[in-house]
Amino acid sequence: MTARGDDARASAPSARSFAGEAPMNPLLLGGGEYPFLKLARIKDALLPAAVRPIDFSIGDPREETPDFIREALRAAVPAVSSYPAVAGLPELRAACARWLDRRFGVRLDPESQILPANGTKEAIFLLAFAVTGRDATRDTVVIPTPAYPVYEAGARFAGAHVHLAPLSARDGWRFDPGSVPDEIWRRTALLWINYPHNPTGATLAREGFERVHECARRFGFWVASDEAYAEIHFGAAPPSMLESGVDHVIALHTLSKRSAMTGYRSGFMAGDERLIAALKRFRPNVGVATPDFVQRAAIAAWSDDEHPVDLRERYGAKRELFRAALKRIGWAIAASEATFYLWIRAAGGDDVGLTERLMRAGLVALPGSFLGPGGEGYVRWALVPTLGECREAISRLESVENR
Ligand SMILES: Cc1ncc(COP(=O)(O)O)c(C=O)c1O
Repeated sequence: MTARGDDARASAPSARSFAGEAPMNPLLLGGGEYPFLKLARIKDALLPAAVRPIDFSIGDPREETPDFIREALRAAVPAVSSYPAVAGLPELRAACARWLDRRFGVRLDPESQILPANGTKEAIFLLAFAVTGRDATRDTVVIPTPAYPVYEAGARFAGAHVHLAPLSARDGWRFDPGSVPDEIWRRTALLWINYPHNPTGATLAREGFERVHECARRFGFWVASDEAYAEIHFGAAPPSMLESGVDHVIALHTLSKRSAMTGYRSGFMAGDERLIAALKRFRPNVGVATPDFVQRAAIAAWSDDEHPVDLRERYGAKRELFRAALKRIGWAIAASEATFYLWIRAAGGDDVGLTERLMRAGLVALPGSFLGPGGEGYVRWALVPTLGECREAISRLESVENR
């Protein structure tokens, strides 16, 4: 290296040395990585160039958003645009309340117990910020795993202590509050539960929610019940945690899966008015109000109960196709009672190995271990590609070893 070169390096710091010196949240410098970024690296290395990949890894439905919902959005785009309000349009909160009543028989006050969200992902990420920080003895967020990764990300960025509670095949991936020691519950600010469950497709009966509720009342913590898949079911309609009472509870619902509206970013929170009131104070700081024209589309979507039936039929058809095919080739599926995920057992418990073999056949799935402890040994298979792609995937599966 010449002296000139050395000088040049000293006067123009490399991107690496700059990042090393600049202040940065340590969570952005550590080893934790969003599961889909990890998966992208495996994809780059293993997907064959000559085969068109079919992606079963992400829960982003390829179904069309119903026409009447798109029309409601178009009709609501204004000539003059204004900032939307965090509390949302009264008509939207009323439509959400009517849906909760029709779907679960739960009656809530749209003014004090319902709040729209810009998709539930942001609401999930931000919730720990609103409920931790005041009391150093209540610093813990409990997360049953495997789980949607944003529960943990939000808790960690909020500076909370995270307690992971692995679910197990033995219990059908149903959360039992007795599996967490009392001394953890005494420190708990927030518990996340998610039924129907991503990734296993397990459901929780009303008594299961009641047990969680008793524990929350006894120890005085909040329960966030993420019910994103409440409408994606193939037998009896799964219950909401709200059915066992609204005190200590906030339930989260989204149009992403129910109405094939992932791109609209629209959902809502419903439950204990003390927490809704706190969120009304917190959320204006963050800029997460939903645009009014999206809210108009959401009103149309929550007011109609027919299109989710149609969507369920489509997922049901793909589900039956795969269940029959996997049975024929000797692969085992666990849980998978609801949601559009199949939870497939990996031979020898090697979920990353099975994902890699699938990848070589041009099939993308998500290793269960990427979603936390308890997920090892299973692969999550999202039934989101088109029916035609599903048929093509089945012919490729025959060549993948998993017995
Ligand atoms: C369990 C669960 N909760 C919440 C979400 C977030 O959904 P959205 O932000 O689209 O409402 C997802 C998305 O995949 C999910 O799987």
